[in-house]
Amino acid sequence: MVLNNKLGITDFIKLARDEEKISKMKARLMFAEGKLDTFEVGTFKGLSAIHRYLFEDIYDFAGEIREVNMSRGCFRFVSVLYLCASLDRIEQMPQSTFDEIIEKYVEMNIAHPFREGNGRSTRIWLDAILKKELGMVVDWSKVNKTDYLLAMERSPVNDAEIKTLLKSALTDKVNDRDIYMNGIDASYHFAGCNTYKTDKLSLSWYRHFTQTA
Ligand SMILES: Nc1ncnc2c1ncn2[C@@H]1O[C@H](COP(=O)(O)OP(=O)(O)OP(=O)(O)O)[C@@H](O)[C@H]1O
Ligand SMILES: [Mg+2]
Repeated sequence: MVLNNKLGITDFIKLARDEEKISKMKARLMFAEGKLDTFEVGTFKGLSAIHRYLFEDIYDFAGEIREVNMSRGCFRFVSVLYLCASLDRIEQMPQSTFDEIIEKYVEMNIAHPFREGNGRSTRIWLDAILKKELGMVVDWSKVNKTDYLLAMERSPVNDAEIKTLLKSALTDKVNDRDIYMNGIDASYHFAGCNTYKTDKLSLSWYRHFTQTA
């Protein structure tokens, strides 16, 4: 089933393509317009603002907590019954060391607050915490997709692999445009979206799209 969307698209592949194109443009604008530094760091409010900004042109549920239970493989993300309580608890988790930050990230993935787009928005949220607290970000282009997905699948039971993997990809070039844009491409590649390159998208196309939408 294709997710209900503001674009009126009913074809799965067309939705995946347009979702990638539009939200990648938003990810680029997030950096170019200095939006990235305006989101609250380490809270659900901040993550929700990131998700809303990325997906507001596409989904009514952008930034909104999901109302259905979700699973991946045999892993069930937090039940909708406990989701709000879980998000309150995660917000309170400390974030002053690398290990604490990754533990918080792992818990946010287990919460999986949105209907779609959790991976992509939560990786941006993670980088904002690392940037503020440690003066570092993950260079996602240095992270292997298979290793990442296996480490995330394993993370609810044991977070050692994701800690090692992300630690080896840290960089102090926190404001580097290329690292950010290539990082978005890598993050979308993890989600199976690799039709467009973030830095090559046409801004005039996007302006036209928003004016006619
Ligand atoms: N079996 C699993 N157990 C726990 N977490 C998982 C599992 N498989 C994937 N994940 C995490 O869930 C994310 C996918 O969530 P979702 O599909 O909502 O996000 P997305 O942004 O649309 O896609 P993606 O995260 O793949 O980019 C992955 O990036 C990964 O971090
Ligand atoms: Mg997805």
